[in-house]
Amino acid sequence: EAAEKGGHASFMEKEILEQPKAIADTLLGRTDEDGKLVLDEMNIDPDRLRAIDKIIIVACGTAFYSGLSAKYAIEHWTRIQTEVELAHEFRYRDPVVDDRTLVVSMSQSGETMDTLMAVKHAKELGALTVSICNTYGATIPRESDAALYTHAGPEIAVASTKAFTAQIAACYLLGLYLAQLRGGTYAEDAQAVMRELAEIPQHVDTVLGSMDRVREIARFMSDTRSVLFLGRHVGYPIALEGALKLKEIAYIHAEGFAAGELKHGPIALIEPGQPVFIVMPAQDSPYDLHAKVVSNIQEIRARGARTLVITERGDEAVRPFADEVIEVPRTSVMMMPLLSIIPLQVFACELATAKGLDVDQPRNLAKSVTVE
Ligand code: G6P
Repeated sequence: EAAEKGGHASFMEKEILEQPKAIADTLLGRTDEDGKLVLDEMNIDPDRLRAIDKIIIVACGTAFYSGLSAKYAIEHWTRIQTEVELAHEFRYRDPVVDDRTLVVSMSQSGETMDTLMAVKHAKELGALTVSICNTYGATIPRESDAALYTHAGPEIAVASTKAFTAQIAACYLLGLYLAQLRGGTYAEDAQAVMRELAEIPQHVDTVLGSMDRVREIARFMSDTRSVLFLGRHVGYPIALEGALKLKEIAYIHAEGFAAGELKHGPIALIEPGQPVFIVMPAQDSPYDLHAKVVSNIQEIRARGARTLVITERGDEAVRPFADEVIEVPRTSVMMMPLLSIIPLQVFACELATAKGLDVDQPRNLAKSVTVE
């Protein structure tokens, strides 16, 4: 097993470091020489895809958060209403689904029973079902109309990392492909976005190479009992996933919130010394979102929070209110979640390691849950 870990303390650590390759391999071979998306492997009649008027992404756990992250871009690029729902909630609430609904299931293992039941139900209701999956030939892709595989390679650690970023990348491919098929505003932009996406593995590598301080903070915080995570827009699902990682492997009470929701409740939790990670939106985000989150940081800092801010390089506006600034390379708004999740994965992994916990096999959890 030590050999399989390739000299790393845990599979999780190894898998975090494998993300540049996981994303690059997921993008590989899915464009033609002009940079146009080619997803013939899905074998779906293009007319069926053109007729789609609603997308529902169903998943559990980390895969659910990757769906939430991708929703922003898919809806923006395709102009198709997109919902993301926990598979076990979708299945039993009498959802409005018909033959113009595309149900995208997201699953690393392809064996999660809750997700499988949701897919079967969607099929019964006449939906077109596509499985985004990391395991070739698993049950969910076999039961779906089409499969779009993530090529992250086998993921051993229970807490999912490289499958998460690869799932977002695959969803982006699907979103851009739909935009391209259907024409419209973002059809011409699809190739430009693909070029940005192609640069992400290199940016992830840069982030991974600059994690010393994050590891130091994690070790220093190993007896922390509660950590909050705030994010807005595409940063919101990243805050949720960052909190999930900490719960799963470090057994620390952690909660993610939408930054805009702060004043509607969570701010009551802030007391002196409370650590709060803030996942910043890109500086060129629409609607002044960046400035809005800066003012959230100000509010919680004034109440004594210890602010750990993940933001783009060159973001000077956050510095006066940040106890720690964790920088990632500058990219476009929709690409940022693929970078800002990395420090949160590293943080959870290092903290759990520092606590002496079994990072790869956390208590009470299974890699693949094959019962409802
Ligand atoms: C289990 C795992 C999680 C995972 C979830 C979904 O609960 O512990 O890490 O995110 O299942 O798994 P899937 O294989 O469907 O992505």
